[in-house]
Amino acid sequence: MILLVLSVVLLVALRIFFFWRFQYWEKLQIPYLRPYCPFGCLPNPLINKEKGGIILKRLYRNVRDKGWKHAGIFVFVTPVYLPTNLDYIKNILTKDFEHFDDRGLYYNEKDDPLSGHLINLGGPKGVTMRKKLNSLFTPSSLKMMFQTLNTSIEDLLQQIHSRNTIDIHKLFTCFTIHVIASCTLGLECNIFKEEHLLFESYANKFLVWSRGKWCLQLLAAMYIDTARKLKVRTVPKETEDFFVKIVTKNIKYREENDYFRQDMMQFFIEQKNANTMSINEIIAQCFIFFIAAYETSTTTLTFALYELAQNLDIQDRVRREITSVLLKHQKYSYEAIAEMKYLNQIVDETMRKYPPFLYVVRRCTKDYTIPGEDVTIKKGIFALISILGIHHDEEIYPNPQKFDPDRFSKENKKMRHPYAYLPFGEGPRICIGTAVGKIVTISFKITL
Ligand code: HEM
Repeated sequence: MILLVLSVVLLVALRIFFFWRFQYWEKLQIPYLRPYCPFGCLPNPLINKEKGGIILKRLYRNVRDKGWKHAGIFVFVTPVYLPTNLDYIKNILTKDFEHFDDRGLYYNEKDDPLSGHLINLGGPKGVTMRKKLNSLFTPSSLKMMFQTLNTSIEDLLQQIHSRNTIDIHKLFTCFTIHVIASCTLGLECNIFKEEHLLFESYANKFLVWSRGKWCLQLLAAMYIDTARKLKVRTVPKETEDFFVKIVTKNIKYREENDYFRQDMMQFFIEQKNANTMSINEIIAQCFIFFIAAYETSTTTLTFALYELAQNLDIQDRVRREITSVLLKHQKYSYEAIAEMKYLNQIVDETMRKYPPFLYVVRRCTKDYTIPGEDVTIKKGIFALISILGIHHDEEIYPNPQKFDPDRFSKENKKMRHPYAYLPFGEGPRICIGTAVGKIVTISFKITL
């Protein structure tokens, strides 16, 4: 009997709690999508196996269909802000960045040292780290990375010519790992030996997320202090050990042998010696450069090749362009790539249709009154920007499932809002490796 009464009391208390939480947006007079107990606006995660970015795209569509410029949604009981108007998005990412200078992601430099990387760092700490790392991506640094890329391309060509059949996935995984390990970790490895398998396996241990890990990450972001007390980890220990070993060994070798190479690792060694970065900070940044570059480049390459195989007219047109530009420049160079307009359009269209990051996130760090609206987003609230939703919005890109590189001709680009294309995010925390990502993808395709 007591058990029954307790259960009823608990159920009633829960009901009142959900009812109270779900009034959040109504009280602020912001339009909102109707939540359901207990998942809020999400489908039941036990039945629905879709990725978060796909669900968010659907919510974005619902908001657009209602003619709203923004809306409140609920992730379980947590209120989340979902802007869909491109001017509102521009304000959050760029114009009013001081109110949203954090992603609100969990990191724990003490118990999970590799989690202290740039993507996770927010607020003044993130801004300071970003300023330091920006110097690694200047045009002159990019030209140097391009030299590394050229060497990898020669190896790649040899491989292609020496085989009758090619496992394209294996080939470009080797290629991207080699380029990225060389550019970001300063390693000189042979791509077509088995070494790349180690990188692939440790990177995937971090990247392949189970449902449980997603929930843990979400909870850790919502209750950062508790998660830190509980020493929650987000980077598997094996992956941490692997990257710690690679980076420390490399630094030690260079220092003991007076080895000098003007690259990222040299920059990090100088920071270490000037006491402006700790060894853990260095390893965390090397780790995220490797992971961010590996995941995004391989995804973009896969989809670009898939679309080229489906669209032979596009393939013919781009082949003609590459041949004529290479004939003019006599060699493959940074300048030649810039001249391959149609090839660049293909990469842009690939990242429109298949953006490697499906959304970007910001956390409000200072109460924010939305310009033109008499409503305030409170400090602590997450804002989600659905890249996939915008890129597949038929009012912005008619017939969005069609692969059409001409959407990115100079004239067509001018007709769109600048925030209608966000594969690299935007604002002061836009992807730091934007140019690198594009060059790796383009180079591979030229070689093929
Ligand atoms: C096709 C290639 C790539 C795509 C589509 C991509 C996409 C993105 C996106 C959407 C963000 C979040 C931006 C935001 O929140 O506004 C991001 C951040 C970041 N990306 Fe990339 N990325 C690519 C390549 C790379 C490469 C090659 C590197 C490293 C060399 C890299 C390193 C980073 C880092 C460190 C951040 C965090 C920047 C910050 O918080 O200040 N990415 N990337």
